[in-house]
Amino acid sequence: MPESITEKIHRLKKEKNALLLAHFYEEGDIQDIADHVGDSFYLAKMGQKAQQDVILLAGVVFMAESVKILNPTKKVLVPDLQAGCSLVEGAPFEKYLAWRNQHPDGIAVTYINSSAEVKAISDVIVTSSNAAQIIDAIPRERKILFGPDQHLGRFLSKQTGREFLLWPGACEVHVLFNAKRLQDLILDHPEARVIAHPECDESVLKMAHVVGSTSRLLEEVQKHPAKKFIVATEAGIFHQMKKLRPDVELIQAPVVDQNCLCNNCPYMKMNTLEKIARALETGKPEVQLPENLRLKAQTSLDRMMAITSGKSVTWPEHFNEKALAL
Ligand code: 13P
Ligand code: SF4
Repeated sequence: MPESITEKIHRLKKEKNALLLAHFYEEGDIQDIADHVGDSFYLAKMGQKAQQDVILLAGVVFMAESVKILNPTKKVLVPDLQAGCSLVEGAPFEKYLAWRNQHPDGIAVTYINSSAEVKAISDVIVTSSNAAQIIDAIPRERKILFGPDQHLGRFLSKQTGREFLLWPGACEVHVLFNAKRLQDLILDHPEARVIAHPECDESVLKMAHVVGSTSRLLEEVQKHPAKKFIVATEAGIFHQMKKLRPDVELIQAPVVDQNCLCNNCPYMKMNTLEKIARALETGKPEVQLPENLRLKAQTSLDRMMAITSGKSVTWPEHFNEKALAL
């Protein structure tokens, strides 16, 4: 019998001493073959402590870059280098740098969905699962620049009671969830628990019982006694939700156009089992970063890791373009 694609991946993982990490938005077959599946913070932590020679991250490229920044001696592979993110695209380095320079006394709190270059001129990185904790660790008198996701920023501003200067970026998938249609759906299913990712528009978040990271939404489905959930996030997460709660009805929150596949992230869905096998076999495509850039980006990721492990950190008084710019 010829070797199946999953057998091939298992064999190559052993031969190359590789760890396979996957995000919750990947297709179910990729999630099932991964060593660890999680949200972006969990994947960064697993990548940082990985002992294997090779780490293959099935997600989008900024996630793999974060692993390379945190664990630089490992070979970090991705199935497809084109797997980008609209938040990364919407925050080009030169413009972000100009914004920082307009507010040199501000602390730049940057979502992990950003390029390594933008991380290098940021003070601290956050994900949706740790952002509130990190913002609470910033002295209250300090001005905060938050980007690139304006919706997450607005949500966090309310949650933490802090005012932010917001970068106007957005996730092209989550902004398509439609408040009017969601309202109608809730009227049809008043018993349903509504859960949403904070990258959705405020008008959608207002209707949610729970707003949180992919892992938080999964936890809600796992633990809440409701028998019906309306889910406003990317479709890949249904795979784990169905596994954890086969007894509940999961309804995808409506998007603007009911006939499109808009609740699928086109970048996450570029990855396939075939591309994973090829990457393990050939050692390509590999995520590589100039050491100068990597070291500068590491400072902001290190602050995230320190605060989330209960350590105290110091904050720069002023943005020093000369020290940080590339
Ligand atoms: P999480 O950190 O919640 O997994 O979100 C990552 C992401 O890209 C959401 O669109
Ligand atoms: Fe980026 Fe949105 Fe895709 Fe997440 S779902 S990777 S934020 S485009």
